[in-house]
Amino acid sequence: MTERSASAPDISPKDPNWWRQAVIYQIYPRSFADADGDGLGDIRGITHRLTHLSTLGVDALWLSPFYPSELADGGYDVADPRDVDPRLGTLDDFDAMVAEAHRLGLKVLVDIVPNHTSDQHVWFQEALRSGPGSAARDRYVFRDGRGAHGELPPSDWQSVFGGSAWRQVPDGQWYLHLFAPEQPDLDWDNEEVRADFRTTLRFWSDRGVDGFRIDVAHGLAKDLTEPLRDLGDDLQGEEALVTMADGSHPFYDRDEVHEIYRDWRKVLDAYTPPRMAVAEAWVPNHRRVLYARADELGQAFNFEYLKTGWSARELREVITVSLDTARAAGASATWVLSNHDVVRHASRLVLPEGTDPDAWLLSGGRAPAIDAARGLRRARAATLLMLALPGSSYVYQGEELGLPEVADLPPEVLQDPIWEQTGHVRKGRDGCRVPLPWTRTGPSYGFGPGAAWLPQPESFASYSVEAQEEAEGSTLELYRTALRLRRKLLGDESLTWADSAPGVLQFVRSGGWSCITNLSREPVPLPPGELLLTSTPLENGHLGPDTTAWLGTTPQRPGT
Ligand code: GLC
Repeated sequence: MTERSASAPDISPKDPNWWRQAVIYQIYPRSFADADGDGLGDIRGITHRLTHLSTLGVDALWLSPFYPSELADGGYDVADPRDVDPRLGTLDDFDAMVAEAHRLGLKVLVDIVPNHTSDQHVWFQEALRSGPGSAARDRYVFRDGRGAHGELPPSDWQSVFGGSAWRQVPDGQWYLHLFAPEQPDLDWDNEEVRADFRTTLRFWSDRGVDGFRIDVAHGLAKDLTEPLRDLGDDLQGEEALVTMADGSHPFYDRDEVHEIYRDWRKVLDAYTPPRMAVAEAWVPNHRRVLYARADELGQAFNFEYLKTGWSARELREVITVSLDTARAAGASATWVLSNHDVVRHASRLVLPEGTDPDAWLLSGGRAPAIDAARGLRRARAATLLMLALPGSSYVYQGEELGLPEVADLPPEVLQDPIWEQTGHVRKGRDGCRVPLPWTRTGPSYGFGPGAAWLPQPESFASYSVEAQEEAEGSTLELYRTALRLRRKLLGDESLTWADSAPGVLQFVRSGGWSCITNLSREPVPLPPGELLLTSTPLENGHLGPDTTAWLGTTPQRPGT
């Protein structure tokens, strides 16, 4: 990648480093805005609502998959990576959306899903028809089963969504699917697979896309030497990545995966400015930053930050490690609090420590009951803290409205494959994917002219953009003010911790402005400095619990 400076960002559209400290807004297209009234959000809906993003003050938007899909996994089962799902629009609609985004000064990122395709993809259909040993099967991971008649799966590998990661086809062979059975894994040792993804990266880059989010970036390279290695009970799932964070896991985070991204970087650097990329890799910090190296993707989502509880000590530690590891890799740090896969942070941050989010969702959000007002207060404090950190912040649609998780969706409306695949043990991720409320009234609160694909609770009326535009001190107003201020304040990527009382975090950014968060249970005095913004109004001149303030350098004036 071209030279990276850690100095103040250049905001010209041609700056190759525009992403280093950008704020990127994630759109989950099916839940953002529905222009044609079929209940599913679409591309024209996004175009109509782009001014929401420019008014908000973000730098870029990232679209989760909008490609043709059977929706077995909310679009992450891609049937054709170089087209638009007809229910969501056309390529012309997409081009119009990109043009409008660029006119408004917004960059556009799209999702690349390289670990698997949909079972409806022409390649997989061909593989099914062509039979064992065919070139078509070589693009995927087909194997004979174990047992006298091949009746057992080829290994004990478990799907992330539950159950065996292997499914048998009528001629007796098995294919690997680390996610849903409708998402067969590709074999990245196959040169045709590699070439096809280079084509996809060029296809969207040629259409003006500025960057890519890489789905399951740590999953592509696999050790498929025979006999396949069983994992046993202890090493299944995400936990294994903590235990085996050394590149030795048979299908996650293997060292060979980096070769793929070095190849992609050459493709992305052929554009002006070079296309940026960010890895989705649920691996520990020191392994994650490898994906963000300058000759690879450039950035990787910081899920360790997302997983950190509301604790000053833990946050300080994770922020320090994240900045150090990013710097060592030549990358900028990233921060994320919510996305389409996790419980929204306005709810998550008040789940008592040790609560299993799946069990909480299964109880319909009742056990334990959570304090929604406190959750919102914390979410606002967490946002100001995140937006003050050096590096990029990724915000998820609806968090600017303070939306909580919709934990009580009834089982009959659930769409996430996790619900069925776990035999109704885990409800899945639909609760953070409920379509956005834009207006106080209407069949889907302005999401579209009719009902939305997932039911919205009545409380969404008061969370709507319309309601919040009229309410002083709303969460929407906080995001708008914070993002405007951030642009003015942003300097280089340095951060200096200031001494602070237990339960309080304070750091200073270049130029001398600072951020202080009170995570303790008592109000704390505000240090000197001009008060620029608070997540919750001060209490008798003190910073209340669960509150963040941004301070300028000038001494505090009386009465501010
Ligand atoms: C990623 C996506 C998630 C999807 C999975 C399989 O983790 O964020 O939504 O289910 O990959 O593609």
